[in-house]
Amino acid sequence: MRREVVSLLGMLKRHPVLSSVLLLGGAVALFVWSRPVAASPVVPPANYEACAASSDGIGKVWMGREIAQVMGHPGIGWLERTDREKEEAPSKAIALLDLAPDAVLADIGAGSGYYSFRIARKLPQGEVVAVDIQPEMLDFLKAESAKQGVKNVRPHLGAIDDVRLPSASIDAALMVDAYHEFDHPVEMLASLRSALKPKGRIYLLEYRAEDDNVPIKPHHKMTEAQARKEFAAAGFRFVTNKPDLPWQHLLIFEKP
Ligand SMILES: C[S@@+](CC[C@H](N)C(=O)[O-])C[C@H]1O[C@@H](n2cnc3c(N)ncnc32)[C@H](O)[C@@H]1O
Repeated sequence: MRREVVSLLGMLKRHPVLSSVLLLGGAVALFVWSRPVAASPVVPPANYEACAASSDGIGKVWMGREIAQVMGHPGIGWLERTDREKEEAPSKAIALLDLAPDAVLADIGAGSGYYSFRIARKLPQGEVVAVDIQPEMLDFLKAESAKQGVKNVRPHLGAIDDVRLPSASIDAALMVDAYHEFDHPVEMLASLRSALKPKGRIYLLEYRAEDDNVPIKPHHKMTEAQARKEFAAAGFRFVTNKPDLPWQHLLIFEKP
């Protein structure tokens, strides 16, 4: 064995180029191996139930709530509608987010990036990771970044059950009008919990189901009680519900 090692060292000495290539290969392998892996925690199978599907639901129930249908990319026009500010006051919601200028925020279910682009302006040294499962949404986000010359909105393809972000890689997460349509809410929250840094916050905006005057389909709304039940089950601490928005709850949760 010693003889083999000595002859290998001799060969490397005679072939400096080969030694450099091997050294470089080793360094690359070490770098790839030591990088934080994507957040895919092992989650025990959730006890989802089945029901007859409602007109805006998918017939799958979590903690008594039927999950809503996903809004397809043809709905981009609705997300970008000009009267959204008047109806929902997104600028007020954004002003309520407590973010450092270098924060990394994941906008989960970013859609067209209505919120991502507006928040990115508040993060001159940080970035918004705009996560969606529809490639068409990511194409729209890329085109919009180019059009607006924005450099700190990063489109990111997630999976229906995994945000696919490295562990402890984000300071905060935002979900606007999106969580209620996650097909696998338990797995999504587990992967999000892993992706957040300790004390990282989730800002959850959902249309208020307690309020009949909010003109949104029933399964695309949530009560505060329901959201708190689901996020507590996923291991998040409830911080507060900001009461200032016309149609939505702004619920804040924290990773302990
Ligand atoms: C109603 S749109 C809201 C878009 C955006 N947040 C807004 O308010 O303008 C919901 C988005 O969530 C996305 N979505 C649904 N399930 C998802 C999941 N598991 N992970 C990431 N995005 C998801 C949909 O593709 C859709 O673009």
